[in-house]
Amino acid sequence: MKIVLIGFMGSGKTEVARLLSEKLNLEFIDMDDLVLEKSSRKTINEIFNKDGEKYFRELEVQVAKKLSSLDNIIVSSGGGVIMNKITMNYLTKNSTVVYLKLSFDKSVERVKLKKIRPPLFKNIARAKKLFKIRQPIYESFADIIINTDNKNVNEVVDDISVKLK
Ligand code: S3P
Repeated sequence: MKIVLIGFMGSGKTEVARLLSEKLNLEFIDMDDLVLEKSSRKTINEIFNKDGEKYFRELEVQVAKKLSSLDNIIVSSGGGVIMNKITMNYLTKNSTVVYLKLSFDKSVERVKLKKIRPPLFKNIARAKKLFKIRQPIYESFADIIINTDNKNVNEVVDDISVKLK
């Protein structure tokens, strides 16, 4: 079994994937971590600032390619993977794609709680534009859609477990 979580920044992909990995006995994989390992930088922000977003997206393709040959994993993807067809071709291979849906206001609320603000969330107006562009694209890739606005991580995990059956 292979599960890929997609969704906008702040949707809870990482926390949900970590919990679900224990419940389903799958290996937890965070794409941003693997991208960082491939780079010579210490943070995602540093990659964006010093190498640029294009380079970051190239690393994402490489990571997605590596993941396409693995099984028994649950992947927390980066919020922007859906914008790249090649990345998505790799990520959707033999996998169930779960979209963690949330409103833009919730996204802002949750991102504010993070220690480090993601690079594409520095400007709220721009983040909102991205959100609008991306929402239908997340939906188009989703096998399962979970509305996360008023749910905690445990409730989201339970919802996914039910829908996987
Ligand atoms: C991005 C989301 C981030 C990270 C990078 C780009 C995006 O991941 O991959 O900052 O384009 O939405 P999270 O969604 O885990 O914050």
